Amino acid sequence: MPAKMIAREHWSKIGFLMAAIGSAVGLGNIWRFPYMVGSNGGGAFLIPYLIAVIAFGIPLMMMELDAGRRFKGSVVTTLKQINRKVWPLGVLAPIVSLSILSYYLVISGWTLGYFVFSITGYMEFSEFTNSLLPFFYFVITLAITAYIVSKGVKRGIETASMILMPILFIVLVALAVYALYLPGAAEGLAFYLTPDFSYLTDPNIWLMSISQAFFSLSVGYGILITYGSHLSKNTRIGRSVLGIAGADTLIAFIGGLIVFPIVFSFGLNPAEGTELSFIALPKVFSIMPFGMLIGFLFFFLLFTAALTSSISMLELGAANFIDELKWSRRKAVAFLSAIIFVVGIPSALSFYGSGVSFMGEPFIDFMDNSLGTLLMLSSALLCIAVIWFFRPAVFDVRNRILQKIRASSIMIFLLKYVIPIILFILFVIELLSGGGN
Ligand code: ALA
Repeated sequence: MPAKMIAREHWSKIGFLMAAIGSAVGLGNIWRFPYMVGSNGGGAFLIPYLIAVIAFGIPLMMMELDAGRRFKGSVVTTLKQINRKVWPLGVLAPIVSLSILSYYLVISGWTLGYFVFSITGYMEFSEFTNSLLPFFYFVITLAITAYIVSKGVKRGIETASMILMPILFIVLVALAVYALYLPGAAEGLAFYLTPDFSYLTDPNIWLMSISQAFFSLSVGYGILITYGSHLSKNTRIGRSVLGIAGADTLIAFIGGLIVFPIVFSFGLNPAEGTELSFIALPKVFSIMPFGMLIGFLFFFLLFTAALTSSISMLELGAANFIDELKWSRRKAVAFLSAIIFVVGIPSALSFYGSGVSFMGEPFIDFMDNSLGTLLMLSSALLCIAVIWFFRPAVFDVRNRILQKIRASSIMIFLLKYVIPIILFILFVIELLSGGGN
């Protein structure tokens, strides 16, 4: 049966690439990736990470984009057309993604706050989080995200991505060049990149690299089904997938070339992780040469990266209401923004006054840990819903099997068995270990 056709906007070729790379490149690239490399065997971490990108990230990306392009619909619309009976299997993915957005916007708000502080003078992180400023910046960030998404795929998302992504890349490279010329940069590079292969025998490294690859590439959220639905039918997605995965990995790598030289040049603790961006680096920006400009650019970079990812998560949700309930884009965005606002409040106020906590941890940490774990399960279910119950069984990858291209049969094998099984195992392991990432 032919897929139900829904008139939709189409990306330009470059606009799609910019938007998809913007979705992938986020907070996960600029501080999470360098930190994980630095504290997990240096250059050795790159080996399981690259394997995870190639073996898991690329096939899933291919699957999502192909399903979206083929059925021209949001996640729910696409899944319904794949199989009317099992579509609810895949619906956990957008629900988890929207829940992630509720606290991701809070952290994006922190980056916006620190971007402003780079001009006005930095506030101590504890003082900042103990004030209502995180709530204020959360609302501003939500409003900016909602405004861009409400403008539509071409006028909003594509235009924003076409402007922001090249600037992001220029700022990223400029900061890396600056950092590499700092005294002590070589020591930072050695810490970042010297491989300690003994780490590779630790199963935890393999688990961490897989979850980092999923988080960073934005696969398993259903975002790429949504973005893929705005591709024209004859778009060849193979090259785009390589471009998106390659750019995301390269930008993450360059993130490390910025962070570690600064960390070592100014005697910071490279294992500080999450707190590095908001506690340690602002101190350095206050004293380093051109520190004000560098801080301004660094937080602009973080905010831009976070914004383009947030946009994709909101679009993922809004598209379902537009396609399924025939809501106007404005109504869908306003409705979801209101829900995200309410759900995001406890995260935004996690450290305000006596704080908002849940199950003994700050609410935002609870959200981060539990949703990161749930994402493993929802991604596995999405993969199963698409691959196992795909009625016509005519994915591009399958067509290519007929053409006897061996890589495709490997891809089907990975999508059918390896990826869902590994994701289930990861989910169970993280669940048993308390859901920590
Ligand atoms: N892929 C996005 C990131 O890396 C969510 O932050």
